[in-house]
Amino acid sequence: MEKLGLDYLDLYLIHWPNPKPLRENDKWKTRNAEVWRAMEDLYKEGKIRAIGVSNFLPHHLDALFETARVIPAVNQVRLAPGVYQEEVVTYCREKGILLEAWGPFGQGELFDKKEVQEIADKHGKSVAQIALAWSLAEEFLPLPKSVTASRIKSNLDCFGIELSKEEREVLKTISVISGAPRVDEMDF
Ligand SMILES: NC(=O)c1ccc[n+]([C@@H]2O[C@H](COP(=O)([O-])OP(=O)(O)OC[C@H]3O[C@@H](n4cnc5c(N)ncnc54)[C@H](OP(=O)(O)O)[C@@H]3O)[C@@H](O)[C@H]2O)c1
Repeated sequence: MEKLGLDYLDLYLIHWPNPKPLRENDKWKTRNAEVWRAMEDLYKEGKIRAIGVSNFLPHHLDALFETARVIPAVNQVRLAPGVYQEEVVTYCREKGILLEAWGPFGQGELFDKKEVQEIADKHGKSVAQIALAWSLAEEFLPLPKSVTASRIKSNLDCFGIELSKEEREVLKTISVISGAPRVDEMDF
């Protein structure tokens, strides 16, 4: 916070539930419990307004809940048209954890998808705007990235787009190459 010149942080997350060095003997469970306790203290002191996690699947959240006193406000997971992590979505909805969708453009893959372009053309919108509208319709909080000023501006024009039930289903089930990460097997 000193480096950022801030008195408090809006949101602070645990980025990954079980980095490779912590997988042996499930060391990640104790580590997450300890880190979460420290984050809870900072939250209670008002130094962090909301605390959350990222890439946590139901079994990682179950482990966290063995000791957690504060429920994560957010779980930031990969969610996009074609990448719908049903189990984690259902779990987080039941617990009232906001799903923040990282990679909402399929990390760029969606821009080559004919089906998404067709829906975009029908609404007179861009593929990016349709992807964000889908995310909002699912009640995810999309976390899009662009380094291009004009794209950042036009991506903001994603509100008030009414997607039909059929269009939402097409987007949900579209076939993509890069799916959800295999969290427990990643090489880091
Ligand atoms: N928690 C995690 O483990 C995790 C993992 C990965 C990413 N993230 C976060 O999620 C955020 C987004 O993820 P991401 O960057 O991987 O994927 P993304 O937002 O799905 O896609 C980004 C790509 O889309 C392009 N793009 C954006 N708007 C566009 C438009 N209107 N037209 C055409 N292309 C457009 C960008 O190009 P330009 O930039 O060249 O415009 C970039 O190549 C990042 O900020 C990152 O911090 C979190």
